[in-house]
Amino acid sequence: MGQEVSAVPETTKPENLSERSLPAVADYIKSGKARKVVVLTGAGISTAAGIPDFRSPETGLYANLAALELEEPEDVFSLPFFKENPKPFYVLAKDLYPGKFHPTISHVFISLLATKGLLYQLFTQNIDCLERAAGVPADLIVEAHGSFASQRCIDCKTPYPDDKMREHVSRAEVPHCEKCNGLVKPDIVFFHENLPSLFFDRRHMAEEADLILVLGTSLTVHPFAGLPDLAPFEVPRVLFNMERVGSLGSQPDDVLVLGDCDTGVRQLANALGWREELEAEWRKLVGDEEADRQLEGSSKRQVELHDEVSQLVHDVDKVLHVHDVSSSGSSSPSPEAVAEKEPIAATQQEVQQSESASVKESVETTTLTEEVKVSGA
Ligand code: OAD
Repeated sequence: MGQEVSAVPETTKPENLSERSLPAVADYIKSGKARKVVVLTGAGISTAAGIPDFRSPETGLYANLAALELEEPEDVFSLPFFKENPKPFYVLAKDLYPGKFHPTISHVFISLLATKGLLYQLFTQNIDCLERAAGVPADLIVEAHGSFASQRCIDCKTPYPDDKMREHVSRAEVPHCEKCNGLVKPDIVFFHENLPSLFFDRRHMAEEADLILVLGTSLTVHPFAGLPDLAPFEVPRVLFNMERVGSLGSQPDDVLVLGDCDTGVRQLANALGWREELEAEWRKLVGDEEADRQLEGSSKRQVELHDEVSQLVHDVDKVLHVHDVSSSGSSSPSPEAVAEKEPIAATQQEVQQSESASVKESVETTTLTEEVKVSGA
């Protein structure tokens, strides 16, 4: 683990770091040059906690849901599909609902950055609320894809009570609005829905960052995926991820720490002299049993995660078939619902001519949009 497969020639010297390595990042922080650290997170920082990510080939939610009768696995997070058949989403919600998972050491590292007054802003795509659970102050968090913290009717927008929501989710039942009987959905952002206004109000903070840390995300969902590119070219960016993603590794001050993010974060904490404090904070928060469970080696965790996802997929499959019998006989969304998908995104995109196509997509898109994969890429 360390600096790997950078696209920058070795002869190109970094501008702000002494070299492209974690010890050099630690020196940069210790010298006081990093006072506005912006952290960007995705599902990969929660896999050690037992929550599957979306796109990992074996254990990712989408790869597993692909075997089901969904038009696309992402349909579980699509509004037209939800309107037609909300049950699969609520089956997943039951298992993914915040409260039963514990923060990883990566979450606690972000909290430590805040304690030390270095965290400028955290942007997370996760809906598991584990950053809050780790103690990151709420005013330093942008939950870019929303969260399970609140919910409302998709028709009349009336908020729905938290306690009733918790009861419904715990039984994987679909809640209905107390006013108009419409479907209730948590305020998590589905595909082609707008991101929360806070995301747009605060994304300038990525431009003002003096250090960007990216952890556990495939950077395939826009506009979040464009955040690392908002920072000035010479600002150091560090990627803690299983593989290289986005434009990370293409700039002279990019450091790639490929592999498990908890391992990478521990290495950075070592170099900073924060390791003992970090481990102690984490164990105090999650308890020794959970800490040891998370530490029990990634292969065992992979097996646990695989079992968990298989169970989830089995449960979703069951409700899809129940739906087949009890409703219209089809688990796919109606043609009207499918037709509804595309225009929503198209009407809400504003395009500025002056920027490159990819940056345009990243920065200008206001709705949750997945990057289109070019086959063979
Ligand atoms: P993805 O599943 O797309 O990507 C997770 C990334 O984390 C992948 O690159 C994995 O290789 C990596 N990863 C997994 N475990 C890791 C670990 N222990 N250490 C380091 N890296 C690890 O998840 P996101 O990028 O978060 O939208 O997905 C973005 C959005 O797509 C989500 O917010 C979700 C989904 O549709 C909503 O829920 C609204």
